[in-house]
Amino acid sequence: MAALDAVLSTIDANLDASTERLFDLLSIPSVSTDPAYAQHCLRAANWLKNQLNGLGYEAEVRATPGHPIVVGHAKAKRKDAPHVLFYGHYDVQPPDPLDLWESEPFAPRLAERKEGQDIVARGASDDKGQLMTFLEACRAYEANGGLPCNVTFLFEGEEETGSPSLPAFLAAHKDELSAADLALVCDTGMWNSATPAITVMLRGLAQEEVIVRGPSHDLHSGMFGGPVLNPIHVLAKIIADLHDEEGKVTLPGFYAGVPELPEDIAEQWRNLDFDEKAFLSGIGLTRVGGEPGRGVIEQIWARPTCDVNGIIGGYTGAGAKTVLPAQASAKFSFRLVGKQDPKAVMESFRAFVRERLPTDAKAEFISHGASGALQLPFGSEALNRARRALEQEWGKEAALVGCGGSIPIVGAFKRDLNMDALMIGFALDDDRIHSPNEKYSYTSFHKGTRSWARVLDALAA
Ligand code: BES
Ligand code: MN
Ligand code: MN
Repeated sequence: MAALDAVLSTIDANLDASTERLFDLLSIPSVSTDPAYAQHCLRAANWLKNQLNGLGYEAEVRATPGHPIVVGHAKAKRKDAPHVLFYGHYDVQPPDPLDLWESEPFAPRLAERKEGQDIVARGASDDKGQLMTFLEACRAYEANGGLPCNVTFLFEGEEETGSPSLPAFLAAHKDELSAADLALVCDTGMWNSATPAITVMLRGLAQEEVIVRGPSHDLHSGMFGGPVLNPIHVLAKIIADLHDEEGKVTLPGFYAGVPELPEDIAEQWRNLDFDEKAFLSGIGLTRVGGEPGRGVIEQIWARPTCDVNGIIGGYTGAGAKTVLPAQASAKFSFRLVGKQDPKAVMESFRAFVRERLPTDAKAEFISHGASGALQLPFGSEALNRARRALEQEWGKEAALVGCGGSIPIVGAFKRDLNMDALMIGFALDDDRIHSPNEKYSYTSFHKGTRSWARVLDALAA
């Protein structure tokens, strides 16, 4: 206990320096989806490698077909200590739309608000701030005689694009990476700002882009409109057909493998004091949509979805243009639960689109990745230890929660490395991840770092 107390004091005393290091990382625009930022992804990877080296750990930046992966190894001070693999991602979403930011997305700053301070920058919460809570906890241990666990670090730069290079990387480095007993993933949130959480369910995700083509080129809508096929109309009809009046997805077979919520879980979730009104008002709405009779929490954590994320076609500039477009396209994402098979969903979707194409319309499909949902054990020894550690830090029992988002690689830890994961993070629902003015609360950063110190201590006890 005395050792842990010293580590926690070190964290408190060095918070300013920790924040400066986080600001350094946040100032690197490591946007993974846009090739124009590739150099910055490499810079972020090198930055992390240097941090690990600076702590006396062996670390390398390893090339992949996409952005590099950083792997590091740290030894515990005790020989028989457990071995954890810590995963985080250094890549971020594009900052767009830029004009909605109140300050530069890659010029991190502290913003004052009533209840405390926020760190504002793209990636502050997703995932650089979270990743740094773990690194800074390790740093505090090094200042106090060393780590209680052996740690393998795995930092990737393609999470926001579905981790395309990571499965092959895990397979190629299986021996090196599976030396760890347990994966620790810091890329999820708290239940609310006072209540820590361990995430035990993630939704899966299948992403599809469709391009519908009609006439060979754009046409004057006066000279051609009427007898000539309009691809935007075809696409709009398909999109409208994807949901029925009850908000259900109409793809054949879509609900295969979707379980009804077990009553004990439903009961736990009802006890989580979720405030639907506050949820809605926080996003400027008043009514719960989707599947009637199913609440917000159930829908987000345990029901599958089909969403259109973008539509492109015809003239979208200022003013008007009487054009009959040659093509239209849309980007779709399907959140998946239970045992839904991402491939089957993708195939059903493609067949659904093809069946609705009138003569002369053609569809091209582009897949942007697919991963299944994930359910972790609710009662493992590691989870119970982590839960108690979090309770000590926050003074409140940690909630076991689901998550509507996806972290595709967590499934691969189990599949390819036979490793369970503990998903613990300190993000808040109002962090605006992926949106303008992303923030991470300073309290999340500080107490998140302290939480990892406690969790590592608890896992080693
Ligand atoms: N950190 C998020 C996942 C997440 C979202 C966790 C919300 C907790 C709450 C992750 O970086 C993410 O954005 N995942 C993407 C995956 C996709 C781009 C392949 C997602 O869920 O959309
Ligand atoms: Mn993330
Ligand atoms: Mn993200």
